[in-house]
Amino acid sequence: MRMKGKVALVTGAAGGMGAATARLFAREGAKAVVVADILDKDGEAVAADIRKAGGTADYMHLDVTDETQWKSAIDRTVATHGSLDVLVNNAGISGSAEQDLYDTAAWNRLMGINATGVFLGMKYGIAAMKKGGAGGSVINLSSISGIVGQGYIHVGYNASKGAVRLITKAAAAQHGKDRIRVNSVHPGLMPPMRTSGRTADPEMRAKTLKGVPLGRAGEVDEVAYAILFLASDESSYVTGAEIVVDGGWTAV
Ligand SMILES: NC(=O)c1ccc[n+]([C@@H]2O[C@H](COP(=O)([O-])OP(=O)(O)OC[C@H]3O[C@@H](n4cnc5c(N)ncnc54)[C@H](O)[C@@H]3O)[C@@H](O)[C@H]2O)c1
Repeated sequence: MRMKGKVALVTGAAGGMGAATARLFAREGAKAVVVADILDKDGEAVAADIRKAGGTADYMHLDVTDETQWKSAIDRTVATHGSLDVLVNNAGISGSAEQDLYDTAAWNRLMGINATGVFLGMKYGIAAMKKGGAGGSVINLSSISGIVGQGYIHVGYNASKGAVRLITKAAAAQHGKDRIRVNSVHPGLMPPMRTSGRTADPEMRAKTLKGVPLGRAGEVDEVAYAILFLASDESSYVTGAEIVVDGGWTAV
């Protein structure tokens, strides 16, 4: 029961790695898991599944670009469940469907959801953890695209994920004194995102895999387990760190 007693909020948890993380937290005995997303039907279904399996979960509509919604989601979480111990800033969109890798509207969209969304989550989540006085753990989803560049992804995706990597380290430096740990997770080739374009193409995926030492794509639970480690007290001396979950892609 690695999440015993902890209240966690996971953004973008209606599917993909967010849903896998929410389910894993519940299986590991979380006191409550808040499943947050903009896809209400899918998000409600994830929360209902968790409850059916004996966990405690509720769904909240949360557009991570909306500061008012962030404030209310965090307030409601603390009011309903008593605290916020773990925040997973996972919501994001892909940059691999854009034809023009310098499209300005796409840049603004990518930075808005992937970078500003994480900034707002940290702003309200960390404030609640500080107020609670019991510390906490924030896990931000970056990507290998926050460490190295790719030839086929909008530059805004790399910029947004690079921003996530560094604001993670800044927040770790600022909030160690509050016993709030802040770390980033960097997945490699995973099941395609809802918004993926070229990275969902089987031919491109096969080509990419040639550069991945483990020779296969990752599975959502393999990322969720890295997030679980950072959320649990097992990582009590880990902050400002980045965990790469990429089958060795960035090692070669
Ligand atoms: N799949 C990959 O290959 C991969 C690789 C590296 C990093 N990542 C990152 O991991 C995270 C999860 O990706 P995934 O593969 O599960 O993708 P996904 O598309 O399956 O899930 C993303 C979720 O975010 C939600 N979302 C999008 N915009 C939102 C908004 N404004 N407010 C709230 N929720 C919003 C979506 O509705 C969706 O449920 C993302 O940050 C992504 O950039 C993914």
